[in-house]
Amino acid sequence: MKPSVLVTRKWPTSVEKKLAELFDVTLNSVDEPLSQAQMRNALFDHDAILTTVTDKLDASVFDGIKPSEVKTRIIGNYGVGFSHIDLASAKRLGIVVTNTPDVLSECTADIAVMLMLMAARRAGEGERELRNGEWTGWRPTHMIGHKVSQKTFGIVGFGRIGKAAAQRARGFDMDIKVYNRSRIAQAVLDEYGATQLDSLDDLFSQSDFVSLHCPGGAENTHLVNQRLLGLMKSSGFLINTARGEVVDDEALISVLKNNQIAGAGLDVFNNEPLINKAYLALDNVVLLPHLGSATETTRDSMGYRVIDNISAFFRELPPPDLVSLTK
Ligand code: DGY
Repeated sequence: MKPSVLVTRKWPTSVEKKLAELFDVTLNSVDEPLSQAQMRNALFDHDAILTTVTDKLDASVFDGIKPSEVKTRIIGNYGVGFSHIDLASAKRLGIVVTNTPDVLSECTADIAVMLMLMAARRAGEGERELRNGEWTGWRPTHMIGHKVSQKTFGIVGFGRIGKAAAQRARGFDMDIKVYNRSRIAQAVLDEYGATQLDSLDDLFSQSDFVSLHCPGGAENTHLVNQRLLGLMKSSGFLINTARGEVVDDEALISVLKNNQIAGAGLDVFNNEPLINKAYLALDNVVLLPHLGSATETTRDSMGYRVIDNISAFFRELPPPDLVSLTK
């Protein structure tokens, strides 16, 4: 009998087709997010649940369920970030969790660089002006932004995406500084022309652009707070393509409003898609709807990566991208 697999959102067509060949699959063609109650019920009905960032599998979803009651043995997350899944609860119930690293690093780093350029060169403002019919023509003092080349690009979290961002920033001849919890081998830093700093304080105070590439979750919630933002240059920009919870919105909105920093570029938010409305009134922030991995190639690759993980699991092989605490 084929394992029964629940896909919580609509996936690329070719990947859904492949899933249907391999598994007894339940698709979500209407593409509406499942409620937490539906997610809880799925634990009793399916061998595998294939989640995304829009599924909140916090402790309450698993609460009170006994290991002997669950049918689900693997959660194959479509995405690299997994802070929306309570790993401790999954572990308690013997459920393995996997993610999809590597395949989205380049596209996510592209979005970070795009946000940097858009924020620094005022692309969002410029487009709004033009579309609103307010452009009065070229003039030497019109919509002056910040030069990016030769500036300092500060990276928080030097994993795969952070490295891909560094590689791109080198193309702009930027000075690359890195903050990472563990020490990065000198050979790796040299490969990216990067210098590792010992503290976030140093990174925030020395960088012209701070780009976040660390995981979300409890340990990094509001890592970027009023104090750290207060250390940034008044000409500095914050870029977030990591997770919304890493930034304290109130603090960021306050420094943007008061022009304590020059601007920000955000692709991820607390409480997506219900973003803090104060951002909408600010011209010095560029806002994107979580597009980091949103290219056809990458979204297909993410799907096939999930298939590799669950296929290995059901063949009793170690899934390549195990992230659960059971590893
Ligand atoms: C990721 O892979 O983590 C993206 O942000 C989509 O969830």
